[in-house]
Amino acid sequence: MRMNKFFCTAIAAAIASAIALTGCGGDGSSGGKQLVRMSHTQIESHPDHIGLEAFKKYVESKLGDKYEVTIYPNGTLGANEKVLELIKQGSVQYLVVSTANIESFDKLYSLFSIPYLFTSETAYEKFITDPKTLEALSVNSKANGFVPVAAFTAGVRNFYSKTPVRSVADLSGKKFRVQAGPTNVAMMQAFGAAATPMSFGEVYSALQQSVIDGAENNELALTDQKHGEVTKYYTYDMHQMCPDLLVASNAFIDKLSPEDRKVFDEAAKEAEKAEFAAWHEAVDKAKKTAEGMGVEFITVDVNEFRNKVLPLHEQLLQATPELKPLYEAAEAANKAD
Ligand code: GCU
Repeated sequence: MRMNKFFCTAIAAAIASAIALTGCGGDGSSGGKQLVRMSHTQIESHPDHIGLEAFKKYVESKLGDKYEVTIYPNGTLGANEKVLELIKQGSVQYLVVSTANIESFDKLYSLFSIPYLFTSETAYEKFITDPKTLEALSVNSKANGFVPVAAFTAGVRNFYSKTPVRSVADLSGKKFRVQAGPTNVAMMQAFGAAATPMSFGEVYSALQQSVIDGAENNELALTDQKHGEVTKYYTYDMHQMCPDLLVASNAFIDKLSPEDRKVFDEAAKEAEKAEFAAWHEAVDKAKKTAEGMGVEFITVDVNEFRNKVLPLHEQLLQATPELKPLYEAAEAANKAD
């Protein structure tokens, strides 16, 4: 993925001003401490942010004399696709990013974009918190320049739109924003709709200006991102469960001493626990708030939606055979549930 000049300049400027605000040197040090920059695109009350606060607290309680952790929420350092480049360069040390955004770097991450991969949310949660899953996803980490160190749940992705979606036919010919990635484009085609990939931060105005008819996400997007102001129908079709991963820059963690590395890895697990603990309550709250905004929650025959896109599983596995072991592990998690 290449960044254009505008983005490079904009991101560099954002980092420069962030550095100026925190009074840190451009070399990533602050008063003798090494600065650890963590980036994400959500608001400060979102479970991802709560997870990172637990990370900061843990690292600073153990190694506060050496490191200062700064969390940049709201995509202030740039959209995830762009910050991944900064992670690879090592100027940002940690990023919370959806697996869908990593797909273009490493096809293994497209596993989670396979629609209806999981048959229940509990199977999905068990699968993403199983250390074997992150280990399997890490095989190309040296070449990628980053490594996943924790998995955060991002719930279930569902369609929401300006007109109600009560059956697959209601998607026909409509334009839906999806996260970037070829699997999402194939999924929307299989549903008979059109995919419009764009960054998370651009979705509100695209909906407002009717550039798109709808989007798909968990319930928090309706409230945190205010999409419920401009889309009033949220349909529980349950098409995807893709996690947010906390990824670490190899340029940073590979240089840590084994003792410090251990603390950072433990902090990542603390973050995972805190994020999960906050998640379900946040979803219940978002649903109530969205109802207050006038959003109607629609239940549908999920099997009708599932059957429409199931042939994609075989096609995607054939196109990317290296996905097979992870796919089979996800199937085993479904069976064990
Ligand atoms: C969710 C997810 C984000 C992702 C976003 C999106 O909010 O938690 O990581 O970027 O969806 O649809 O882009």
